[in-house]
Amino acid sequence: MQEILAKLKLRRAEARAGGGEKRTNAQHARGKLTARERIDLLVDEGSFEEFDMFVEHRSTDFGMEKSKIPGDGVITGWGTVNGRVIYVFAKDFTVFGGSLSESHARKITKIQDMALQNHAPIIGLFDAGGARIQEGVNALGGYGEVFQRNVLASGVIPQISVIMGPCAGGDVYSPAMTDFIFMVRDTSYMFVTGPDVVKTVTNETVTAEELGGASVHTTKSSIADKGYDNDVEALLQMRRLIDFLPSSNTDPLPEIPSFDDTERIDMSLDTLIPANPNQPYDMKELIHKIADEGDFFEIQEAHAKNIIVGFARLGGRTIGVVANQPLVLAGVLDSDAGRKAARFVRFCDCFNIPIVTFVDVPGFLPGTAQEYGGLIKHGAKLLFAFAEATVPKITLITRKAYGGAYVVMSSKHLRGDLNYAWPSAEIAVMGSRGAAEILYRSELGDKDKIAARVKDYEDRFANPFVAAERGFLDEIIMPHSTRKRMARALDMLRHKELNNPWKKHDNIPL
Ligand code: HXC
Repeated sequence: MQEILAKLKLRRAEARAGGGEKRTNAQHARGKLTARERIDLLVDEGSFEEFDMFVEHRSTDFGMEKSKIPGDGVITGWGTVNGRVIYVFAKDFTVFGGSLSESHARKITKIQDMALQNHAPIIGLFDAGGARIQEGVNALGGYGEVFQRNVLASGVIPQISVIMGPCAGGDVYSPAMTDFIFMVRDTSYMFVTGPDVVKTVTNETVTAEELGGASVHTTKSSIADKGYDNDVEALLQMRRLIDFLPSSNTDPLPEIPSFDDTERIDMSLDTLIPANPNQPYDMKELIHKIADEGDFFEIQEAHAKNIIVGFARLGGRTIGVVANQPLVLAGVLDSDAGRKAARFVRFCDCFNIPIVTFVDVPGFLPGTAQEYGGLIKHGAKLLFAFAEATVPKITLITRKAYGGAYVVMSSKHLRGDLNYAWPSAEIAVMGSRGAAEILYRSELGDKDKIAARVKDYEDRFANPFVAAERGFLDEIIMPHSTRKRMARALDMLRHKELNNPWKKHDNIPL
C-alpha cells in the first residue's frame, strides 16, 4: 500500500511541476504567477479541489507523442470564495504555452458543465497561445465546444475572465462571451491576430501593448472592464467582485452584514449640487455616500466616463448603480455611454440585481461624429435595456433630466418602481436657454426679451414639481435622506414580481 501511495504522490508532484523549473522561473521573471499560484490566491485557503490532473493530450502529429505533460496546459477544479463555491480554470503558460488541445478543451468543458448544473460562477484565468498548432482542427473543435457552453451559461451563471498573459485567437473569443473581462497591466494582451500578422496584412507596425494591452482595452475598445497593476491585485479584486454577485440567476443575492446604519443621513448631500446649474460636481461622491461603508466596485471606470456603472450594497444587499457623471462632458449620453450602461443594466437584470439610477443628464451628444457612429442605435440600447428590465428599479433625478435622456434614464414611463427627485431637479425637453431661443427665434436680437423668456421657461420647468404633479415622480426627497429612502424602497421592493410577455428572446438593437 505504501508503494501505491508513494506512486500517487510522485505522479501528483510531476503534474504540479507543469512545464518545469526553467519555464516557471521565466514566468516569474516576467512578473507573472504560475497557474497554481494564481488559483491559490483566488480561492479560500486550502479549498481548491483539482480535477483531471493526469489528463494528457492524444496527439501523435509532429512528434507530439513524445512530448506529454500531465494536466496538458490547464488547471481546472473548484474552490470557495468567502465560503461560496466557484469553478475555476487557469491556463498554464509553462505547458505548451497554455495552448488548447482537444484534451485541454475537454477539461474546461467538464467544469463549464458542472458550474452550469450546480449553479456556481466560473472564472477563467487566461495566459495562453491559442489553439495548439500541432492539433489542427481538433483544437479548433475544442474551442467551439467551449464557446457553445459560454453562450448557454450566459445569463444563468456569472462568467468572469481574467487576462493574465498573452491571449490570441480562441483565447480571446471565449472571454468575449463572458460577463466581465479584467486584465493585468503590462503583462497581458488580447488580440485576434498578433503584431506580426498585422504587419503582413496591413503593413502597420504596432507593439503587442499598443495593439491589445490593458491600456487599449480598458479605454479605447472597452473590451476589458478594468486593469490591475499585477496578478495579486487582480485576483484579490476578483474575490471582492464575487462577493457582490449571486451564484446564479435563480440564487438569492448575497447578504453581507454591514455596520453601516441604513437610517444614516448625510447632511453634506444638501450642498452637493452647485448653485450654478452649469457647474459640474462629482456624482461618485453621492454614490460613495449612499453605499454601505462607501464600498463601490466600478466597472469600465476608464471608458465612457460620462456614465458610471458598478456594484454597491445597500442594507447588505447588492445593487447595480447607473449614474450620469456631470464631471465628464456634463454627463451627456453618447454612443459609448449607451453601450456601456446597457450591457451593465442587462447583467443586473439577468441576475436579479436591483438597479439604482442617478440622473443628471443634459441630453444626447449632438454632432456628425455621434450620428455617423450610430448614436441612434447605441442610445436605443440603453433605452431597451432599462425598458425590458424587470428587477426593482429606483431612480433619483439630482439635477438635469432633459429630453429623450429623461425618458431613457429609468424613468417612470419605463416601469421605474420608485422615481425620486431632489428639489434641485429640472425636468424639461431641453435647457431653458435653448428652449427660449427656439420658441422665440424672432426675438433673438433683443437680449432683454430673450432673458425674460429664459427666465419664464426656467420658472415653469426648472423644478421637479411639474413631473411630481403628473405622478411621473413618486416623491421629492431631501438629499440628506437619500440613503435611508433608498434602503427602505429596496426593502419594500424585495419580492417584486414582474414578467415580460413570453418570447424566444428579444431583438435588442445590436
Ligand atoms: C503550441 C505553442 C503555442 C501554440 C505557444 N506555444 N503558442 N505551442 N501551440 N499555439 C509554445 C511555444 O512553442 C513555446 O514552447 C511556449 O509555448 C512558449 O512560447 P514562446 O513563443 O516561447 O513565448 P513568447 O515569446 O512569450 O510568446 C507567446 C506567444 C507566442 C505570443 C503566445 O507563443 C505566439 O504567438 N504563439 C502563437 C499564437 C497563435 O497564433 N495561436 C493560434 C491562434 S489561432 P517551448 O517548448 O519552447 O516552451 C486560434 C484559432 C482558434 O486560436 C480560433 C477559434 C475561433
